[in-house]
Order: sequence, then structure tokens, then C-alpha cells
Amino acid sequence: MIKSVLLVFAMEAEAKPLIQTLELKEDVPAKIVGPAPCVTFSGEHQGLSVHVVWNGRCKDHGVDNVGTVPASLSTYLAVLAFKPDVVISAGTCGGFKAQGAAIGDVFLGTAVINHDRRIPLPSFDKYGLGHAQLLATPHLQAALGLKSGVVSSGNSLDYTDKCMEIMTAHGAALKEMEAAAIAWACALYKVPLMCVKAVTDIVDGDRPTAEEFLENLHSAAAALQSTLPKVLGYLAGKELAQL
Ligand code: ADE
Repeated sequence: MIKSVLLVFAMEAEAKPLIQTLELKEDVPAKIVGPAPCVTFSGEHQGLSVHVVWNGRCKDHGVDNVGTVPASLSTYLAVLAFKPDVVISAGTCGGFKAQGAAIGDVFLGTAVINHDRRIPLPSFDKYGLGHAQLLATPHLQAALGLKSGVVSSGNSLDYTDKCMEIMTAHGAALKEMEAAAIAWACALYKVPLMCVKAVTDIVDGDRPTAEEFLENLHSAAAALQSTLPKVLGYLAGKELAQL
């Protein structure tokens, strides 16, 4: 039965609305001690223990620690600290209109891949792609009326032609910078992972990504915020097979 959930966020702007709405409190004393930069928050929602880990801020540049490296570190340490029944990679993403994505949509991930780990050597090619299934949640998806698709992770906001070729070949609906790394850390602990992502920009559209992302970050975070408590409420007290 699901009693405890850990949500992993890269950006404070993505995490803050949920932390405020659920009145989660920063864990003091810290559950994860430095030098790891991540910060954790905990509380309860509908009988569920809810934990949030945010990747924290880069001390040299003052921005959120986005990308795969901080995401895997935060996930590894937070799963060790909280022993959650389910992990959720939550945040914003680019969406492919060819896969039905529109700005402000909230998607559930079905699987993850990496589009920027190209290693054309025997077996390393599959390792680099890192395809991994996410927790199947067909009932939750139907109950909440969410779209779903493959999440593709890479360490750049933009993409090369080769990245696009890989994303298209694997039917990616969403592009972001953390989920595949979070999946890797979750797999080490055999803890199931879900992705809940709100679309800030259209990858196969004609607007510059950075401009569209900044324009829509706060409205997408609000869409995410209105969906996440419903997801948590649905998970509370259920068995994985009921999702
Ligand atoms: N986060 C939001 N939009 C993104 C995009 N297009 N690529 C990577 N990460 C994102």
C-alpha cells in the first residue's frame, strides 16, 4: 500500500506552489546534509507522507541545479533518507505538438530515454539511450484526464539534429532535463517512478525555446500545482497494481 511519496523537482519555481499549497515544511535538522546542495520538505496530504526534494541552487551561479547530474544525486540521497513507496519526477518540459502536446498540458510519462548520450559501441549504445519503463498508471490517467507519453531527457534546453532524430525515432512526447537520471537512481533502489510534467514550450514549434519557456513557466507551474495534489490523493492508500 502506498503510504509515502517523494517528489523530485529541479527548479524552485516548479516546487514552490506545491510546497505552499500542501504546507510542507523544510526538514530541520536537514535530512540530507551538505555538501549535497539539495533541500527537502515534508508533510502530510490525505494520509500520505509527502516529501519534496529540490536540487538546490548552484553556489557559483545562483541558479537552480538543473540537469541530470544534480537530479540523480538528489534522488539517490532522498530515496535513502525517506524510503518512499513511489517517486514522482515533477516539473516542466517541452512538448511535441506532433504527439498532441499543447502549452499548459500536464502529462504522465510512460517511459524515459536519454537523447544526448550517443555511444556507438556494442551494448553502450543501448546503455546510453537508457530506455526505462515508468510505473503504469492507466486508472489514474483516466481518472484525472491526463495525456501521456515518452519523456526524453538531455542536458540542454536546445537540441541538435541528432537529438531530434533520436527523440522522433522513440516517439518522445516530452523533452526535459532530469527524468532519465531520476529513473536511473530509482532503479538502483527498485522504487517505482512516475513523471508528472507540465508543458512550457513546443519543441517542434517555431518559437525560440528560452523565450517560450520563460513566458509560460509560471502558468505551467500553476497547472502542475493544480494536478499534483489530485495525483497524490489518488495514490494515497492504493496498491501499485490499482493505479
Ligand atoms: N524544460 C522546459 N522546456 C524544456 C525543453 N524544451 N527542453 C528541456 N527542458 C525543458
